[in-house]
Amino acid sequence: MPFSRIADVGRHEGERVLIQGWVHASRSKGKLVFLVLRDGTGLLQAVVSRHDVSDEVWDLCERLTQESSLEAFGVVRADPRAPGGFEMQLDGLTIHQIAEGYPITPKEHGVDFLLSHRHLWIRAPRQQAVLRIRDEFIFSCREFLHDRGFVNVDAPIFTPSACEGTTTLFNVEYFDQRAYLSQSGQLYNEAAAMALNKVYCFGPTFRAERSKTRRHLIEFWMLEPEMAYADLDDVMDIQEEMVVFLIDRILQRCPADLEILGRDPAPLRAVRKPFPRVSYDEALERLKELGEPLTWGEDFGGPHETALSEQFDRPFFVHRFPAAFKPFYMKRVPGREDVTLSVDLLAPEGRGEITGGGQREDSLDLLKRRMEEEGLPRADYEWYLDLRRYGSVPHGGFGMGIERTLSWICDLPHVRESIPFPRMLYRIYP
Ligand code: 4AD
Ligand code: MG
Repeated sequence: MPFSRIADVGRHEGERVLIQGWVHASRSKGKLVFLVLRDGTGLLQAVVSRHDVSDEVWDLCERLTQESSLEAFGVVRADPRAPGGFEMQLDGLTIHQIAEGYPITPKEHGVDFLLSHRHLWIRAPRQQAVLRIRDEFIFSCREFLHDRGFVNVDAPIFTPSACEGTTTLFNVEYFDQRAYLSQSGQLYNEAAAMALNKVYCFGPTFRAERSKTRRHLIEFWMLEPEMAYADLDDVMDIQEEMVVFLIDRILQRCPADLEILGRDPAPLRAVRKPFPRVSYDEALERLKELGEPLTWGEDFGGPHETALSEQFDRPFFVHRFPAAFKPFYMKRVPGREDVTLSVDLLAPEGRGEITGGGQREDSLDLLKRRMEEEGLPRADYEWYLDLRRYGSVPHGGFGMGIERTLSWICDLPHVRESIPFPRMLYRIYP
């Protein structure tokens, strides 16, 4: 008897197959039991008719509870009314376990309850859809970069020094030394780019930010490409190409999952080149017109990003931010000491920043001066300064926050649903 994944049952019409899975739902109506089975690839309705099965099988079917695990046998039939277009006429089964009262029932649950049961919540069709899209997204990021000659060189998680400012560092005991959890792999990426030219790292990053917004996680995953012999325009060009590629991929390969999420694909189809490139100065003008004024030199807050991001039908760049709120490694605009060659990519539909990056300071003297201004301990960064001593070249890159990007693509109200097990300000369980 052929084994089938539920996603593939259509290939077995008229055949008797074996499904290995769980009971998503069950109900009985007189001499019929309707089971909705799930196996991680889809949902399949299995119909059990009292007349067609032995007393033993009928008894088992009546005892099945939500999330009981089982192997089911039966013939696949086309049925246009069934979800997926097929159903199974069940004629035999083996039960692995009858589940105790499953805590997540079809009724509405509060989000705190669901987050406390995240280990079970990921079995829900919506959550599965997000996780499948996440997988496709990450796979496609790697493929895009690999095909363009980027070498994956991952950065360490334990680091002796800060990358993105000292206020959001997690301290850890590293035997008898102090160390931090990585905020970004960028500094190591720069070393790798001087070795291999075009590189990327991809891994978890950590920010001890006391933020409770829908955009903040304490632990999030960042994809960070870095290129030698690249300027700010190159950094924007590659992002534009990559984001268009990724959105195309998700539209092509995940239509069923987008549908489960109720995600309108129209705004995603509008994601075409070119992406508008707005300078920080121009963004300030627009914000004034939109009634969200900001003083030159101040960083955007959530409301500013949202207001700007509602103005565009596709992702857009904001470039050349003031140096005041950007990290020490940012190269300055020639002739404008207080402005950096930095760039953020903001997603449309009110979503805001999904990537941040720019061109790096490549002069040894200027970099030393910046570090002094910021009070960074020289000894911890000597290796980083070496990159400017031995064959320094113009270079740049960016970091894409995977969860923020996925929240936009999947149209999720909060980043917490875009990562398997979110770490948030007051949550580290499960
Ligand atoms: O803008 P950020 O801080 O840039 C960097 O870390 C650079 N060193 C990256 C580089 O150039 N290689 O972070 C990059 C992205 C943001 O645009 C955002 O998408 C995401 O990381 N991000 C967060 N996502 C979720 N929760 C948080 N607390 C985040 N902080 C940043
Ligand atoms: Mg940023």
